[in-house]
Amino acid sequence: MAIHIGEQELLSKAEAFLQEAYAELGKSDLLQQRLTHVADEIAATGTWTPDSDELIHGARMAWRNSNRCIGRIYWKSLKVVDARNLDTPEAVFDAMDEHIAYAFNEGQIRSVITVFRPKRDQDEFAPRIVNHQLLRFAGYTQPDGTCLGDPAEQEFTKHCMSLGWKGEGTAFDFLPYVLRWPGFPEQWRMPSIPNGVRVPIVHPELDWFESLGLQWYAVPIISEMMLEIGGIQFTAAPFNGWYMGTEIGSRNFGDINRYNMLPAIAIRLGLDMASNHGLWKDRAMVELNRAVIYSFEKTGMRITNHHEAAELFVQFEESERKNGRDVHADWVWITPPMSASITPVYHRLYDNTVKGPNFYYQDPCIGKLRFDITPGCPFHAASLQATAQKPE
Ligand code: ARG
Repeated sequence: MAIHIGEQELLSKAEAFLQEAYAELGKSDLLQQRLTHVADEIAATGTWTPDSDELIHGARMAWRNSNRCIGRIYWKSLKVVDARNLDTPEAVFDAMDEHIAYAFNEGQIRSVITVFRPKRDQDEFAPRIVNHQLLRFAGYTQPDGTCLGDPAEQEFTKHCMSLGWKGEGTAFDFLPYVLRWPGFPEQWRMPSIPNGVRVPIVHPELDWFESLGLQWYAVPIISEMMLEIGGIQFTAAPFNGWYMGTEIGSRNFGDINRYNMLPAIAIRLGLDMASNHGLWKDRAMVELNRAVIYSFEKTGMRITNHHEAAELFVQFEESERKNGRDVHADWVWITPPMSASITPVYHRLYDNTVKGPNFYYQDPCIGKLRFDITPGCPFHAASLQATAQKPE
């Protein structure tokens, strides 16, 4: 649920955004006129409507301001799809399919955000995509308490099944889209999955690796966060970049509470798992990450590695400073989950102040927020805070 912003607060947020955006766009001469118009619109309707240029630049600023994203050097290249005119679940599902197809681009992944309409006064709730990501694998809780598939998706998978969806029952079943749209009952539809989106994981030297049967999808499209521009909250605005290998190799496959593959890999590598001194987990993790990067490259899927991404982040910092802007970042998230100290970001300190426009967590549609929460952080729309817990 989005929080209510008072008119005065909304106006000052709109003003702050428009000032910054118009200066960056070299449109300062048009600012006064626009501010007057927006103030009138807020007085008359209680809200304001970013025009198409404002929406585009605002979304790019939100990416640029995303403290936890290491890939921000590309912020200017974000493609912004204005889907604010769509108002039926069918049309929204179609737009999500188009998002996936455009983003996937046969493996040459492109960053794109699709912005759906914000909540209106008469709506009983804000438009929401219930999914964490548009493409994601199901996690089926088994009678013995174990999980088949992605344990992070167990709650959502149960929810989908309660709506009448049924998966095939493999460890890599794509989940349906689930939508809460004002004026309609909650509903689901299967995404249209482009050929080639599923990447089978193989290893450059270890032939047995393939028999682990691992797969991952090529495009991570976050769909549960809220985009805020000048006080306007876009509660349904899925966006994507492309993967950094460790997100999959270290976290999705390596985390104990995810696919937890390190023990199986260490056994196949014949490592001594009796003692931590031999670093069996570390060795298994390196091979797993090599396999992920190799498999993506081999199938023509765009992917970055943590060394390249960290270097580009440092370049992003430099170019931001050249443009007179401070870079704010969350060290805990920016620092890669393997080989941290051999990337440059590890050795830097960051100011974690959150600036708008930005992307924020919202109250989860189902289950709990994915990260531990304590009160008081601007990162969460309902004043819930994500603590220093590492990201997924
Ligand atoms: N870490 C998440 C995952 O593994 C994706 C988050 C967004 N990542 C990105 N490269 N844009 O699915």
